[in-house]
Amino acid sequence: MRTILIMGNWKMNGSSESIRQLVDGIEQQAKDATVEYAVCAPAVYLSLVKGMLQNVHLGAQDVSVHDHGAYTGEIAADMLTDIGCEYVIVGHSERRQYHGESSEVVAQKALQAQKNGLKPVICIGETLEQREAEQTEAVLAEQLKAVFNTLTPEQLQNAVIAYEPVWAIGTGLAATAEQVQSVHSFIRSQLAACQADLAQSTRILYGGSLKPANAPELLALEDVDGGLIGGASLKSDDFIKIGEAG
Ligand code: PGA
Repeated sequence: MRTILIMGNWKMNGSSESIRQLVDGIEQQAKDATVEYAVCAPAVYLSLVKGMLQNVHLGAQDVSVHDHGAYTGEIAADMLTDIGCEYVIVGHSERRQYHGESSEVVAQKALQAQKNGLKPVICIGETLEQREAEQTEAVLAEQLKAVFNTLTPEQLQNAVIAYEPVWAIGTGLAATAEQVQSVHSFIRSQLAACQADLAQSTRILYGGSLKPANAPELLALEDVDGGLIGGASLKSDDFIKIGEAG
């Protein structure tokens, strides 16, 4: 049984004041939820948010590939565990695009997370150019291959995969139900090729302009186990409504 996971990715947004208000709103409404809610706060606010959470899980947005030491600005996986994080997003397309993260680096980050008791949320997705060139499955397979080469099926036990077509992120243009189901079922088949049990247990989230209006249709799809939500996760009512559709 895969519990639906509704995860907010706040990206580089908020202040202590606005984040307190946002968390208050989410916490109040998440009390009797049947889905699992999680929020990924900017690193500097993780401890603040942790102190306010009761019904909602906590995640970070990135992690270092290194253990400890002279890596200025980096954050180690065990520091995230230490302050109460349960999840960490790795390989978001904004990190791949603006910070040059390769699939190998992303896989190393997932491994660091796993070794330190964090559940990695591994993001994969194609650009519009790649979709138009009918390379979607090849691109996703390549991104997943790096993960399967680096982590054993046992190490992937608690991992989450997030399918986020790059062209759907922050554009207001979500993928269609048909596109999402087709890709999610492809991802599940890749997981099955790695290990049958993994395909059954791994949650595959959809991300990219998910909002209350399209959530009922997309979250009802057979191979969709939740959502990774950017823009709409910054409004507590919208975020909760997406979860209610799950
Ligand atoms: P969006 O972002 O919901 O604003 O499209 C999703 C994401 O980047 O995780």
